[in-house]
Amino acid sequence: MVTVILLVSLLRPSKSKAPPTLKERIPFVSNTIQYLTDCGTFLDRVSETFKTTNTNIVKFYLAGTPAYIVAGTANVQRMLRTVDSLDGNFLNLLLMDKFWGMSHSEIDKFAQDHSGRGKTALPGTEGTPPEQRIWHSHDQLYVEFLSKHKYIDALADSFYRLFNERLDRQSKDEWQTVEVFRFLQTAMTESAIISLFGSQIVDLNPDIIEAYYAFDRIANKLAWGFPKFVQPKNVAARERLHDMSKRHIDSAWKNFDWDGPDADSVWEPHFGSRLSRETAKWFRERGFSSYAAAGHTLSTLFGLNGNTVPITTWALITITRDPVLLQAVREEAESTYVVDPATGVRRIDPQKLVSLPLLQSIYIEMMRMHVSFNITRRATQQVVIDGYVIPKGAIVQTCAQIAHFEEDVWGVEGHPASEFWAYRHVKVADVVDEKTGEVVGQKKQFAMKGRPSSFFPFGGGHVMCPGRHFAKQEIMLAIAIIVTKFDIEFVEWTELDGTRRERQAEDDRRYAGFVAISPDGDMRIRWKRRW
Ligand code: HEM
Ligand SMILES: *[C@@H]1O[C@H](CO)[C@@H](O)[C@H](O)[C@H]1NC(C)=O
Repeated sequence: MVTVILLVSLLRPSKSKAPPTLKERIPFVSNTIQYLTDCGTFLDRVSETFKTTNTNIVKFYLAGTPAYIVAGTANVQRMLRTVDSLDGNFLNLLLMDKFWGMSHSEIDKFAQDHSGRGKTALPGTEGTPPEQRIWHSHDQLYVEFLSKHKYIDALADSFYRLFNERLDRQSKDEWQTVEVFRFLQTAMTESAIISLFGSQIVDLNPDIIEAYYAFDRIANKLAWGFPKFVQPKNVAARERLHDMSKRHIDSAWKNFDWDGPDADSVWEPHFGSRLSRETAKWFRERGFSSYAAAGHTLSTLFGLNGNTVPITTWALITITRDPVLLQAVREEAESTYVVDPATGVRRIDPQKLVSLPLLQSIYIEMMRMHVSFNITRRATQQVVIDGYVIPKGAIVQTCAQIAHFEEDVWGVEGHPASEFWAYRHVKVADVVDEKTGEVVGQKKQFAMKGRPSSFFPFGGGHVMCPGRHFAKQEIMLAIAIIVTKFDIEFVEWTELDGTRRERQAEDDRRYAGFVAISPDGDMRIRWKRRW
């Protein structure tokens, strides 16, 4: 027996053509079901296979399609850089059907453009007329109106004002009890929606926040689960939000004056931000229905709130549990307040805020530990990764939940990668006197512990979250405003419905693989305004 095994392994080339496969009880079925319904166990088995086979790639079948999960710096980099044969539009096309509710002919306008998102068309598609380069021009909306300082600052400014106003309604004289997640789900979501889409969307749809969360809870299933016809309730939740978005767009088109002074303003009540206005125009000019444009709004609502609210919740839960940390974050955040010379009002300087070492470190830790995203690509032609041939049509994925917890990347003595550590990304540097060259003190600096290729909460390569700049500002602003404005004390853990429970909040596994993971419970706190 031993000799046979030895012989077989000797005869095998050092790297066989096919990578290790994930075992399954019922061929083509068991893995798919577990992949879709029990991400935790599935991932444990993937990690186990990596270990026993000493590789960073594993093959399985996902609904009959060959699928590969890869890990490790080299493989992830290779995956992200192979732009011309690993297609990243795959996820968007899926969402156009499941979220945007676009017709097949509308989806085809995107699907048939293979020229890529970059400024120059991909090799082989150089002749594509500019008006057919639909991915590129759609992406340009984000490049212009969600990346330039002018527009991010306007969004952050509006969010700051609205969120601050809401908190000013809390009592200055008495302690009040709130549930963190529940509070943020209303306060942050409404402030962010009005900043991006205007005040009309909320005025026209007073239930929009509730409708949004009814959708948020089932979004993962709708996108990745079984076909639409077996989940009519989930489809109905989507349609309810879609109708609200449509009412908003129709009303904005009817009431907005495109020849008026607001046409290129950073905000007005009908469309809201410049991004929202230009996106609506973009869809109309390219012959898409307003139903499709409303679906795009719905999808953006998900990007806007589905991640920032849970991440901010996790941060506040984590900070509140540790009064010493709370005080350190508060002191740091207080140092960013400046007095506006024009109005005499004290307010946070967002530029100072986003460069704070401790707060940034906590932000990165929250994203590392609570964003579970699979970067997904489809091979449009055969590719080689880690020496293995991946056939055309195969799916290639890499999972944040593996990369974000790699011990050799993130681990520090006494602070394993599996645990939160507020100071993981803070470095203490010497302060040197410029004239004398002498060390005159020390200061804290932000320095990310891990490599970028092991950290991809926003996706990676050429298909990345366009909202990432605003997201960081919004999350850090929300945390900073709350810790500086309030004295906060932990009261108890609760279920999501507010009833008391013993167990602390944990990741709600239903969200795994897709976005930031919401907590499966809530934290009840007492707070009182400090000023
Ligand atoms: C913690 C916060 C956030 C996280 C972790 C996050 C993560 C992601 C990820 C992983 C993707 C998919 C990238 C891909 O296709 O591979 C995405 C897409 C997207 N995100 Fe975010 N996001 C966040 C906040 C935001 C915010 C604040 C906005 C605001 C508008 C936003 C807007 C979008 C949009 C519009 C897309 C789709 C882009 C497209 O059409 O290709 N996201 N986000
Ligand atoms: C992400 O990957 C995990 C494990 O590979 C899987 O169980 C989960 O279904 C995936 N989710 C998505 C949305 O791709």
